[in-house]
Amino acid sequence: MMRDAFIVDDAAGRDFRLNRRVLVEPAILEAERKRVFDRSWIYVGHESEIPDPGDFVTRKVAGRPVIFCRDSAGSVRLFLNTCRHRGARVCRERRGNSNRFYCFYHGWSYANDGSLAAVPGADAYPDTFDRSLLGLMAPPRLDSYRGFWFASFDKAICELHAYLAGARDYIDLVVEQSASGSLTVVSGVQEYDIRANWKLLVENSFDDYHLHSTHSTWLEYMKDSGVDVTVPKGLLLPKRGVGKDLGNGHAVIDNLNFRGRPVAAWIPVYGDEAKPAITAAKTELVARLGPERAERVANTNRNLLVFPNLMINDGSSVTIRTFWPATADRMEVTAWAVGPVEESPVMRKVRLDSFLTFYGPGGLATPDDVEALEQVQEGVGATVDEVPWSVMTRGISKAGEQLNSDELHLRTFWRRWNALMTEDAAARPDAG
Ligand code: FES
Ligand SMILES: [Fe+2]
Repeated sequence: MMRDAFIVDDAAGRDFRLNRRVLVEPAILEAERKRVFDRSWIYVGHESEIPDPGDFVTRKVAGRPVIFCRDSAGSVRLFLNTCRHRGARVCRERRGNSNRFYCFYHGWSYANDGSLAAVPGADAYPDTFDRSLLGLMAPPRLDSYRGFWFASFDKAICELHAYLAGARDYIDLVVEQSASGSLTVVSGVQEYDIRANWKLLVENSFDDYHLHSTHSTWLEYMKDSGVDVTVPKGLLLPKRGVGKDLGNGHAVIDNLNFRGRPVAAWIPVYGDEAKPAITAAKTELVARLGPERAERVANTNRNLLVFPNLMINDGSSVTIRTFWPATADRMEVTAWAVGPVEESPVMRKVRLDSFLTFYGPGGLATPDDVEALEQVQEGVGATVDEVPWSVMTRGISKAGEQLNSDELHLRTFWRRWNALMTEDAAARPDAG
């Protein structure tokens, strides 16, 4: 066995192993910043976060502070939040609306199209000082798909549309929940840290194998609320879903719904008052999309990974979740709830309840996931020399369809990650 390989991927030997070094070594994190994050399309934000000219939000994308904004002419922009003078942040608010970004250090100010608008004491600069060359800098690529905006620091990366590959169909299934085709990020955000490597949350976010063991508290709660969560006899896990490779490292678990969905599957925990609105939403879906597609949109749950670090969990609510490595053993998680812009208040309430009670950092599921991931990190970190490999072979010997509780979708992520981490950069067409 190659001791230094990141993964062992041996189809003939039905073996797939992960070298635990990739979860603990700072040098590997440094390499993945360049090779993985800087060579992918990275999720920035949703168009509904900046609906009006002048709207902006600030956040980090691929480790850089950015301003995601709509300029006064209405175009979506993304700027690196660093002053061209000496580097201070030019926007220090989380969100707002402004024509100008004003650097508090020496007072340079920038229009919301990025151009340098004013320089205090400009007469002290020489003739060669050219304001037109000193606007805010932007990542080389910015594009959107159905309201979801992505950036890339790789100027030669393929078009976003091609990059998303099979993930586009799954984004479509989210957008089609809206009669107007418009989603909105519901104001407010969940932010929390996990003392674990960021790739563990990729795995965990669509690892159905852990449902019954990790989430027994939540399953008991659902059962007590009148939801059928029984496992068919003879199966370790319900055969209620499949795992799929969607190309370019993207993957999904695609499950039959057994719990509620605000669009459009009512369950008793939602309360009787929510029933008419949810029934009406289903009727609207059938009228607009036909019975088959409506069933697909309304009554299947999908946990979608857009490589490398965007998860769209479309279940009892729709959650957009990104996470960034702070260090090799700590990540910063951000999660937003998203829903049809026109949905009724009672459905919005159901959605936000689920966002909080299931996915929330204090909910019935996420704390158990966090505990599991932190235990993994602790175990792996302390024993990586003695116990170097993790096992990831569920379903590997099967031809055809893979279950949600198999690990094809996890292997899909790791294969792409490994390809980027080991490719010969000099051989890239844009090299040099
Ligand atoms: S650093 Fe921004 S004006 Fe000097
Ligand atoms: Fe979980």
